[in-house]
Amino acid sequence: MSGAGADSAELARKLFSGPVSFLKSAPQLKFLPEPTVPEIAFAGRSNVGKSSLLNKLTNRSSLARTSNTPGRTQELNFFEVGTPVVLRLVDMPGYGFAKAPKDIARKWRHLINDYLRGRVVLKRALVLVDSRHGLKDVDREVMKMLDQAAVGYRLVLTKADKVKPTELAEIERLTAEEARRHAAAHPEIIATSSETGQGMEKLREAVIEAAFV
Ligand code: GTP
Ligand code: MG
Repeated sequence: MSGAGADSAELARKLFSGPVSFLKSAPQLKFLPEPTVPEIAFAGRSNVGKSSLLNKLTNRSSLARTSNTPGRTQELNFFEVGTPVVLRLVDMPGYGFAKAPKDIARKWRHLINDYLRGRVVLKRALVLVDSRHGLKDVDREVMKMLDQAAVGYRLVLTKADKVKPTELAEIERLTAEEARRHAAAHPEIIATSSETGQGMEKLREAVIEAAFV
């Protein structure tokens, strides 16, 4: 490896083995922290594995709270990486949670959309997609919104340990094909598992590149 690739691999190793800490939860936009450093957001349907992936990415077992029950994360949770802090990771509530009361679902949708569309320091959204299910219409709506707002995003397959390698390859192919039709989507998909650690190095590098390059 050479050039930016080698640099970001090295930086990724250093940063994610160093300090990471919870900063704050924002239930509404007015509680967002000062926009002082680049932010990378974890978005996706309820229960897709956003909080688990944030934990795995930062080598922490329970930094972000996870649960079997959809709707666990209810606010924007900010985590800071590095001393001095050079980057924030943002764990978001899930969208498309059919069982959430209507007014709560609306509140989350507005919080998610307003943050994603309007946050100056947001460098990239990671849009997580369950490897077993692939893209759903609610994901496509979020992708369209990000395209229109010109916010770069990357599709990340989660729970890769739950499908056979051939199925994973097929879902990667289909997802990449769809990503290529979206203006703001990164054309390459990263397949990950928070169980096995699959894809974690690649994802760490992608985060570093999105934030600093
Ligand atoms: P909300 O905050 O409710 O939107 O959910 P979330 O997207 O943050 O999902 P969370 O990380 O809480 O994980 C949901 C469930 O999926 C939990 O039971 C996790 O243990 C499980 N899970 C997450 N990632 C993986 C994975 O890579 N493999 C497997 N097998 N299970 C996973
Ligand atoms: Mg969560």
